[in-house]
Amino acid sequence: MHFGENMFDYRRTHTCGELTKKNVNEVVKLSGWVHRRRDLGNLVFIDLRDRYGMTQLVLEDTSTKLRAEWVISVRGQVRERKSGMANAKLATGEIEVAVEALEILSSAKIPPFNLNEESLEVSEELRLTHRYLDIRRGDIMQKLLVRSKAMLETRSYMNSHNFAEVTTPVLGRSTPEGARDYLVPSRVHPGTFYALPQSPQMFKQLLMVSGMDRYFQIVQCFRDEDLRSDRQPEFTQLDIEMSFGVPEDIYELTENLLIRLFKECKGVDVEPNFKRMTHAQCMEHYGCDRPDLRFDLRLHRLDDLLAETEFSIFKETLANGGCIKGLCVKGGAEMSRKEIEKLIDFVKPFGLSGLAWMKRTTEGWQGGVSKFFSQKELTGMEKRAGVDHGDLLLMAASAEGAVNQGLDHLRRHLGKKFNLINENSYAFVWVVDFPLFTYSETDDRMASEHHPFTQPHPDDIALIKTDPYKVRSLAYDIVLNGYELGGGSQRIHDSHLQAEIFKALQLSDEEVQEKFGFFIEALSYGTPPHLGIALGFDRLVMLLTDTDNIRDVIAFPKTIKATDLMMQCPSQVRQEQLDELEIATKEKAL
Ligand code: AMO
Repeated sequence: MHFGENMFDYRRTHTCGELTKKNVNEVVKLSGWVHRRRDLGNLVFIDLRDRYGMTQLVLEDTSTKLRAEWVISVRGQVRERKSGMANAKLATGEIEVAVEALEILSSAKIPPFNLNEESLEVSEELRLTHRYLDIRRGDIMQKLLVRSKAMLETRSYMNSHNFAEVTTPVLGRSTPEGARDYLVPSRVHPGTFYALPQSPQMFKQLLMVSGMDRYFQIVQCFRDEDLRSDRQPEFTQLDIEMSFGVPEDIYELTENLLIRLFKECKGVDVEPNFKRMTHAQCMEHYGCDRPDLRFDLRLHRLDDLLAETEFSIFKETLANGGCIKGLCVKGGAEMSRKEIEKLIDFVKPFGLSGLAWMKRTTEGWQGGVSKFFSQKELTGMEKRAGVDHGDLLLMAASAEGAVNQGLDHLRRHLGKKFNLINENSYAFVWVVDFPLFTYSETDDRMASEHHPFTQPHPDDIALIKTDPYKVRSLAYDIVLNGYELGGGSQRIHDSHLQAEIFKALQLSDEEVQEKFGFFIEALSYGTPPHLGIALGFDRLVMLLTDTDNIRDVIAFPKTIKATDLMMQCPSQVRQEQLDELEIATKEKAL
């Protein structure tokens, strides 16, 4: 039976989330998926679902065969539900539609998991294999809708500040963001490859050389790196660049955008004037450059107080140039030895061989390593770490990097374990004064901390030649609740300074020419002072939708092993395709 205007009239009069008491007596046409069917013998109730909501249908014809997830279209009259039958949780909960005509638009196989049980635990693997069904369940759908709204708000905000959206190429040259590139072979020029952009960094700087003045783009980026719950091989950046500005302009622009997004997409009022912290302060007090400031559990340096210590492990660490830091666990003196042992095991995978500990009770310091310290040392540590009666002091001694890494993880673990984190707070912080250079263990040489176009701090330029690791840069990150939301910098606009940086990085003229020749040339044609930032758009949407899994905010994400379970890729290709590209693989092709 078909009841549309004509055979192929699939239009609806309303969506499933729309009808209320105001529509009572209207004849409507709805379409959607059968969510649930309840057979009462002489009547059948159907919950009809679409993206907008759910509407209850009542069928008197009980012979119609209908199953979950079939797509149907109905015509019927809206009526008020009988008293006591209203559902306050549903926007349409006061009405139902008495079906006069029904058409089955498509039947459905039995889905691999139920779509009508909210709490149903389904493995992520199965959800990703049938992602379209997972989206249909609603939770991911809602997150994608927030993402869509965030994109719209962002575009509107950036446009209102004179930023023009410019599309940059996906097929290009390798860009210097430090991860591995995804390569695309060229058929026309066999043996050569394009690289997918890790970011549009060079393009956006070239747009400033072009006089574009203010650019933005919501753009896909590609990085072949180890994945985590907040990292995907293919992700989206809100990429921004502007001319004739200083970092304060980027801070203000970004803060106001974030305030607007949290208000419009989450209904949360964020306090303006975000905190600022130098990179050095972050490392000192939180052991990382993206501190979660929703709770104030700090790392305290203890090595200067223990310079004369007789405690052999600490003594040895200090003699080897290592460092000692402590964390004070409030009320931690209650913890059993077993519980403390668990914390010690927790830090081991993060580069620490263990933790030393002692308890402060009303009778003084007790347990653990307390007996190895002089009164002066104990009092010093007590004051420095803010230890009160009833607290536990945990200490790590090792190379500074390992101490920071281990205690950073421990701090976050303790924050969760002791419920120190207010889940409804948004602790933004600008991390500034990043070092310009870092030591790359993989290459055993000095590398750029951010990328080689970052402007050194004006006060530190003389140090580039003499003490490069001490040089600060005009690079900044915006951090929220322990996530690096974005990063950027003031760029070098002077080709001589740029050449000096390449020299400091020990890049030969040939290497520079090969990697960035066109870019250096462009800088020599009149480059305005310029700067920018890129925000991880997926991470931003994660925070707007209260999830800690980046895959929840991407319609068709990759697994942690960089595979797409639905499309089954990466996949082998046909031998002819490889032949055309003049590529030979070690594995046999199809
Ligand atoms: P950066 O490399 O810091 O800077 O990247 C900017 C932001 O992008 C996000 N991000 C990611 N999100 C998900 N998965 C990933 N694999 C991933 N990698 C990065 C992070 C990060 O803060 N061109 C510079 C910006 C600039 O200097 O203007 C850049 O790309 O949230």
